Amino acid sequence: MQNISIEELQKLTGFYGSNPRVEELLQTIAMVAPTDLSVLINGESGTGKEVVATAIHRLSKRKNRSLVSVNCGAIPEGILESELFGHEKGSFTGAVGQKKGYFEAADKGTIFLDEIGEMPLNTQVKLLRVLETSEFMRVGGTEIQKVDVRVIAATNRNLEQAVQDNQFRRDLYYRLKAITLVIPPLRERKDDLPGLIDLFARQFADKNNINFKGFSPDAVNLMMQYNWPGNVREVRNFVETAIILNRGEVVRSDYVRNALNMSNPSAGAADMLPMPVNKTPEQVERELIYRTLVAMKLEITELKQMFASFMQGAYSGNLPAATPTPVSYVPADNGDKENGNAVKPTTLAGMEREMIKETLNRFGGSRRKTARALQISERTLYRKIKEYGL
Ligand SMILES: Nc1ncnc2c1ncn2[C@@H]1O[C@H](COP(=O)(O)OP(=O)(O)OP(=O)(O)O)[C@@H](O)[C@H]1O
Ligand SMILES: [Mg+2]
Repeated sequence: MQNISIEELQKLTGFYGSNPRVEELLQTIAMVAPTDLSVLINGESGTGKEVVATAIHRLSKRKNRSLVSVNCGAIPEGILESELFGHEKGSFTGAVGQKKGYFEAADKGTIFLDEIGEMPLNTQVKLLRVLETSEFMRVGGTEIQKVDVRVIAATNRNLEQAVQDNQFRRDLYYRLKAITLVIPPLRERKDDLPGLIDLFARQFADKNNINFKGFSPDAVNLMMQYNWPGNVREVRNFVETAIILNRGEVVRSDYVRNALNMSNPSAGAADMLPMPVNKTPEQVERELIYRTLVAMKLEITELKQMFASFMQGAYSGNLPAATPTPVSYVPADNGDKENGNAVKPTTLAGMEREMIKETLNRFGGSRRKTARALQISERTLYRKIKEYGL
């Protein structure tokens, strides 16, 4: 699998980019994918960790078996262990029958443990044992289960730091880190940006039969100046929205300037503050705190505006201006069936549901960002998504 051209690697993996660090990453993927080695993927939100995990599975000899993805950060701590390893009847309240876990479901295939940094310590012990012996016991069980599962883990956290903070087991960390794939954030490989813009524009226009006229050179230049804190996911969302809002016409720099400030005023405005240069650590720290406070203030203002426009929509019969498609809503106690009749939420739960839905849309489905914007934990958000059937 060595010496494959970058174009070929991109096609094989679905991961686009030709920055030297990306090329090295893709060559490593091609090398390790066919083995059974565990892999740790490290990268910020939206850098493509899931794309890489999927590529590894697809390029492995397990490709015709299951790839089971588990988001360790989204499953409530108390049930993660039984979800992963299964449980025996009566092992805890609510365990009415025996249940197989994800590891058994992934037998002969691959398990993708996303956000592994959020895994509770006691579950980490069990994971280490599977990695070392391929054996585990279901929760409340006494029989040893054997599985043949390839493990791919991902995190956006610094696990080394988590180990030092006693939040991640050192032994598990050493076991996982042998093959670590680091995906650099987009701001460190801006040379890949024009290609990604082009790729997402073509994909979106083709899929929706839009005769898209493209981005003006000035618009692309402006996009090159932006930092893309949401990485490639943010680029994809931005490009798709730009095509729709400009009705397929050329996207110009004035649109980009407005949209980037509007879609992420916190990053935009905070970035306009002077950068700390040649300052003492205390000064740098103070400025960082100040920048964070400014960003938070802007975020709160934006949330207030969202809430106000939402309330307006809820009571005046209009939908919030930013909502692209009509929202149909049936209160949860009616079984939460969407029946096509737009019913405005009049209960607190209904409003909460709409707010979560809208925020999820706003951040392109990123749970982490949605949770952060709504100031709730990711676990709470996950529970509410399930509860409201979003
Ligand atoms: N290099 C890339 N080439 C093509 N598409 C990409 C690339 N990187 C990311 N994407 C796209 O960006 C979006 C986000 O990618 P993905 O879900 O893999 O990110 P992630 O690192 O898992 O993010 P999170 O930490 O928030 O879960 C997806 O739509 C994905 O297809
Ligand atoms: Mg992901």
